[in-house]
Amino acid sequence: MLGISPANNLDIFYDEYLFRDLEFEELLTSFRGVLMHPGEAIARVILIGPPGSGKSFLLDSFQEQIKISHIINCKSNIQLNCVTIDCQNLDSSKTVVYEIIRKIDPFFKASLDECQTAELQYILADILNDREEALIIIFDNIDTLVTKEPEEVNSLIYGFQRFSEGKNSDEPNLFSQILVAHNIDFLQELDDSVFRRVVTDVIPFTPYNAEQTFQLLSVFVKKNIRKKITEETIWFIAMISHGNMRLAIELLERANLISQKNHHILILPEDVRQANTKITEFKLTKQMIKDLPVGEKLLTLSIARRFQSNSKAFINFIDLPSLFFSICEEYNMLKIARYFSEILNNLERIALISIHNVQKEVIITLADISAADLVIYLEKEYKQKRRDNPYFI
Ligand SMILES: Nc1ncnc2c1ncn2[C@@H]1O[C@H](COP(=O)(O)OP(=O)(O)OP(=O)(O)O)[C@@H](O)[C@H]1O
Ligand SMILES: [Mg+2]
Repeated sequence: MLGISPANNLDIFYDEYLFRDLEFEELLTSFRGVLMHPGEAIARVILIGPPGSGKSFLLDSFQEQIKISHIINCKSNIQLNCVTIDCQNLDSSKTVVYEIIRKIDPFFKASLDECQTAELQYILADILNDREEALIIIFDNIDTLVTKEPEEVNSLIYGFQRFSEGKNSDEPNLFSQILVAHNIDFLQELDDSVFRRVVTDVIPFTPYNAEQTFQLLSVFVKKNIRKKITEETIWFIAMISHGNMRLAIELLERANLISQKNHHILILPEDVRQANTKITEFKLTKQMIKDLPVGEKLLTLSIARRFQSNSKAFINFIDLPSLFFSICEEYNMLKIARYFSEILNNLERIALISIHNVQKEVIITLADISAADLVIYLEKEYKQKRRDNPYFI
């Protein structure tokens, strides 16, 4: 990893960020002045992007590089520091400032009931002046704090900016800010005028696509997972995590544990399904499956049986009509076989299965529920119906 030398050469501040190089470069461009001349320029940037799109990941690295690079302004001797505050875990702007101070001076103590946010900001400024430091503050997940107390967040942001507006020309510019949120909506709660005074760059993070998630996961597997996992299963995780790398990693790690518990040699798609049922908001209830028409139930059963009996994550679309045909035959329901397409669409509509186009092939997958559980449930239900109604099957 490279960093800015004490001589302040910005051009070597670069690392390889898989699929996030562009965002990192944009961040560096916005902070160019601050990185070159700490204490002189200030900057403010907003990073927006959905969960698991790599915002905190990139900023951790940005902060780390600033720390190891010891960036000092050779004229004023001011050194650049950077702290990250996860606003998600804090319940007020006051505690945010308190936590920032504690990151700079771990021995600092104050009774929060007895002081105001602005007072703490002045204390922080004094500490920085004493230490001859300028600070980049990363407010991660600022949107969660805005939801709790929009007015106070407004004063918090403006409070830090005011140190630059009201100072003498020989005093340093102390505070730059990075605000991180899932989308730009939080700005609507804040006062426009705060944002008019300082140029604020916005860097959007789009979700990773399935191919990128697959590649990031493959790197992660190589580094962190000892158990074997096929490329197909990694693809499966990549597809069902919809570009959310946090979800992808969590699915993989949980599937790894489930696989160990079940003494599987590999991490199987079925382990991933079981992990997924636990961590995603499960959209399908037992009742919904119970209420499905018979054709939908039979197609679900044929898909679930196929997934239960092998370690594949996907079924090729062209294999599906014959699978459906044979299950209709098995249950003596051949007359519904001709509604195959309609039934398949219905299953996709209620998200019981999903259909993907990959390299000119259409593939079907089942992600939210264990195939084995589905088979047990549906076969049991048919047996009961057979008992109750001899004409049903
Ligand atoms: N480009 C990447 N290279 C390697 N790992 C990554 C990359 N992007 C994300 N990750 C990993 O994915 C996980 C989630 O990423 P991260 O925490 O940065 O998401 P986020 O955008 O901050 O999400 P949230 O808005 O929910 O906080 C982390 O473990 C992170 O290390
Ligand atoms: Mg984050």
